Amino acid sequence: MKPQTATAPGKIILFGEHSVVYARPAIAVPVFQVHAEALIAPCDDARVLIRACNLAREYALDDAPPNDPLALIVRLTCARLNVAPRHFSVTMRSTIPPASGLGSGAAVSVAIVRALARYFARDLARAEIAALAFETEKLHHGTPSGIDNTVIAFEQPIYFVRGQPIETLRVARALTLVIADTGVAAPTRIAVGDVRRAWEHDRARYESLFDEMGAIARAARDALERGEVETLGELMDANQVLLRAIGVSSPEIETLLAAAARAGARGAKLSGAGRGGNVIALVDTVTQDEVARALQAAGARRVIVTRLEGG
Ligand code: MEV
Repeated sequence: MKPQTATAPGKIILFGEHSVVYARPAIAVPVFQVHAEALIAPCDDARVLIRACNLAREYALDDAPPNDPLALIVRLTCARLNVAPRHFSVTMRSTIPPASGLGSGAAVSVAIVRALARYFARDLARAEIAALAFETEKLHHGTPSGIDNTVIAFEQPIYFVRGQPIETLRVARALTLVIADTGVAAPTRIAVGDVRRAWEHDRARYESLFDEMGAIARAARDALERGEVETLGELMDANQVLLRAIGVSSPEIETLLAAAARAGARGAKLSGAGRGGNVIALVDTVTQDEVARALQAAGARRVIVTRLEGG
């Protein structure tokens, strides 16, 4: 057996985080500037050894706690490939900051599934890879919609509705987005759990807010497919108003959004679960550098400029 590596990108949610958990549509795109990488190598030890380099942890599969996502994805993938989990090591590295809305957990799982399939010389369809990674998403946060594992396994812009066939999206005109990290790690589980409790407490209000978010995602899909960049910016701002209303924004997020707006962004919002993590700002070639600089000056820990190719 030869060592094999595989990678998986990060992701951002353009529209519809949180409401997507409640079966409204959402739009997500991959982010190739960050990635997770898995290396599978043969080892003399009969056990499977897992090395999580970012966490400086090394352990045997059999000693992993029951809720360990790396152990779960290795076990599930071996079962799917019909191979015994023996005599190999799994080494994980990732440049995706955890708990920041960029899909780090899903990317780690997808990279492991891909690397194991390569190591055992097997092909898995993207939907199958997404389905395996979905199982670990449940460990990360209980009631995931499935959008993170799907966009990362498909590596294309997607229009996603929970439980419905996956639709990839055609973007008519190239878009540039600045992604800025508040530096506040905010586990998805906590924000998703808080929104659920609030929804249970006042279903009518939350259902109507989720309906509005869903309508924005639908309008955004049309705008993306028609290349209406100005409309997209307005829809991002409108989505942020609703995210604020469900309680997932934060002072750090609002500081970055205000800085992006002052520097000329067409629209901006938090992306992912919120409470911290990353914000995204829609820019053009004229404002791109200015917005990136403004975000840094306003305290962003890291700024990434990403482009969605059109056509
Ligand atoms: C997390 O990236 C997006 C959320 O909508 C959760 C989910 O869809 O599972 C907050």
